[in-house]
Amino acid sequence: MRDPRYDILFTPVQIGPVTAKNRFFQVPHCNGMGHGMPLAHAAMREMKAEGGWAVIATEECEIHPSGDVSPYVEARLWDDRDIPALALMCDKVHAHGALAAVELTHNGPTASNLYSREVLIAPSHQPSKYGYPAQARAMDKSDIADYRRWHRDAALRGMRAGMDIIYVYAGHDLSLAMHFLQRRRNHRTDEYGGSLENRVRLLREVLEDTREAVGHRCGVAIRFATEELIGPGGIERAEAQDIVGMLAELPDLWDVNVAAWYNDSVPSRFAAEGAQEPFIDFVKKTTTKPVVGVGRFTSPDTMVSQIRRGVLDMIGAARPSIADPFLPKKIEEGRIDDIRECIGCNLCVSGDNTITPIRCTQNPTMGEEWRRDWHPETIAPAKSTAKVLVVGGGPAGLEAARALGQRGYEVNLAEARRELGGRVTREARLPGLAEWARVRDWRLGQIRKLQNVAIYQDSPLTAQDVLDFGAEHVVIATGCHWRRDGYGRSNGAAIPGFEGNAAVFTPDDIMDDAVARMPEGPVAIFDDDYFYYGSVVAEALRKHGREVIYLTPDDTIASWSANTLDYRHIQWKMAELGVEQIVSHNIVGYADGALELEHVWSGKRRALDCAAVVAITARVPDDALYRALRDREAEWADAGIRTITCIGDALAPGLIAHAVYAGHRYARELDEPRQGEVPFKRHFHSPRETDLLRIGD
Ligand SMILES: Cc1cc2nc3c(=O)[nH]c(=O)nc-3n(C[C@H](O)[C@H](O)[C@H](O)COP(=O)(O)O)c2cc1C
Ligand code: SF4
Repeated sequence: MRDPRYDILFTPVQIGPVTAKNRFFQVPHCNGMGHGMPLAHAAMREMKAEGGWAVIATEECEIHPSGDVSPYVEARLWDDRDIPALALMCDKVHAHGALAAVELTHNGPTASNLYSREVLIAPSHQPSKYGYPAQARAMDKSDIADYRRWHRDAALRGMRAGMDIIYVYAGHDLSLAMHFLQRRRNHRTDEYGGSLENRVRLLREVLEDTREAVGHRCGVAIRFATEELIGPGGIERAEAQDIVGMLAELPDLWDVNVAAWYNDSVPSRFAAEGAQEPFIDFVKKTTTKPVVGVGRFTSPDTMVSQIRRGVLDMIGAARPSIADPFLPKKIEEGRIDDIRECIGCNLCVSGDNTITPIRCTQNPTMGEEWRRDWHPETIAPAKSTAKVLVVGGGPAGLEAARALGQRGYEVNLAEARRELGGRVTREARLPGLAEWARVRDWRLGQIRKLQNVAIYQDSPLTAQDVLDFGAEHVVIATGCHWRRDGYGRSNGAAIPGFEGNAAVFTPDDIMDDAVARMPEGPVAIFDDDYFYYGSVVAEALRKHGREVIYLTPDDTIASWSANTLDYRHIQWKMAELGVEQIVSHNIVGYADGALELEHVWSGKRRALDCAAVVAITARVPDDALYRALRDREAEWADAGIRTITCIGDALAPGLIAHAVYAGHRYARELDEPRQGEVPFKRHFHSPRETDLLRIGD
């Protein structure tokens, strides 16, 4: 049962006219499904409610076509026809005794209006934030009145949908209510600009409007950014203190955090659990209303400490609720070891940024609740008594073994190395990635509770070993390794001078502590991969005092990391470490300690002296065992083998998330009927407009 130390986490909190049953608050998070996939969205939120969160919020919810954030798919309450989609969520959330919250926002100059084709609006004339080739126009008094009316109408619609809490959003540099506060966005000379009192006026009015419209039934929450970390052009702590002081008792709840988004959802590489405390700790001293804050909280001790020390009243969480929708329930039931802790990789964020349903490295069921009926905690029992052999103890193999074990299969896992975890264990040794080991640790912890899963370390298997083993199903999850020859996105053939050159290294070498045996002199990192490896290898080399040149054919370093909000942190880190960057350059050869570089646009060539190169280009599946077994397919039946399946990096190298998902999917689908060519449900729009209108009534 629950440890009494954590009792305080399970005491109720009054939020205006509604009561949260405990202190766990799933703060707003977008998910790439939003208004476009309302059934999938509702099912995902329901899982959090079932898992014990007292409050479940939507993501940003657009209130008017002039604040259209397309192509991003968030929630939407433009008119009454949007109500049913959000009502779906409310019904699901209420079924588990949780409260539903909606985060109303008009994104002003941080919208796009690419879909609505309305003119952007802002406190003053200014360029749109995200580089769209249009400016936002300054709002006049009638626009301000319209905006207040849209917000009020959306609050009423939220209430009609069944929302218990209506948010006024003044966070992340993403909403008009915040833009009016910011000196750099608000140059007005009327009563809405200039002095702090004037800049706060609109936020105050919107809070009052919301309270007046729905305050009898709904709690009114404010999400407020207390620091933008950009100096006086942005909200700074001192000014934020004044603002909280001015509005202290107006909302029923303060949800406070740091802006912009990349300073809030900071990857674990760059911020530890609870890192926002110094920026928000004043709020509780300034208001008597409950305060929610965030900080990738996964430890119940940290949560209790936040409450006992008077920092927070409620534990806000986005990522921890994604990695483990059942986190509160596990604490409540005294199952702390079962918590699937977020690793801070921010793959979940990439769903929003790539406009696709949310994915999570730790939780392969995230985003699959409706379309595949996957539950994060339960799984169908085994359909047979088959014995399964899993070869490889990396993220794919461990997850396959765990989930197969959960289903009740007899599972044996053989790992060639002494250590388990495969790439997770190896990558977690790189600078900043230590928390990624949680992918391994959670799975091993779960497996150790299962009597029907045996693990054999130090056990490389040959094809004959597998045939002799007596398993009916074999899963090959033997991972991959990095290429050394330079072949990759930018080079369709090996780079001359790479093969057989002892001065060419790979990320595998760095993970095997090769830095100490690298020749003296500058090291070039050749990043043709574009995600995180280039910068972590740079950090590893700088730790050893090596001079580093970060070289990439791309026009910027680590371009894909923009999708995970790592990008700016990587740039800051590289600047701090004094890593030189050479972008838009490919390598055409390496000889006599010099690389020959070619500018990708001009074709101009130049030499770059370097003692060593780390090639981050492409990976090769370690599938020799799988191929050897395929070659002996005629012998499978005699050996009692029904299927041999290759998964994860051994099939096609990808992210850790891909490997975990592959292992999970294998386990879910074993002995189950094939689902057809499209193995999941989809949302379809009715081809008849009249049907749509009827749905919206
Ligand atoms: C995938 C994802 C989407 C998010 N979308 C929103 C959003 O729509 N509105 C918002 O106010 N915050 C959003 N956030 C920020 C979170 O609410 C939260 O403040 C932040 O992630 C820090 O909390 P955490 O450490 O518990 O993740 C999002 C965060 C994530 C991870
Ligand atoms: S994707 Fe990564 S950061 Fe996001 S919730 Fe999952 S483990 Fe955490």
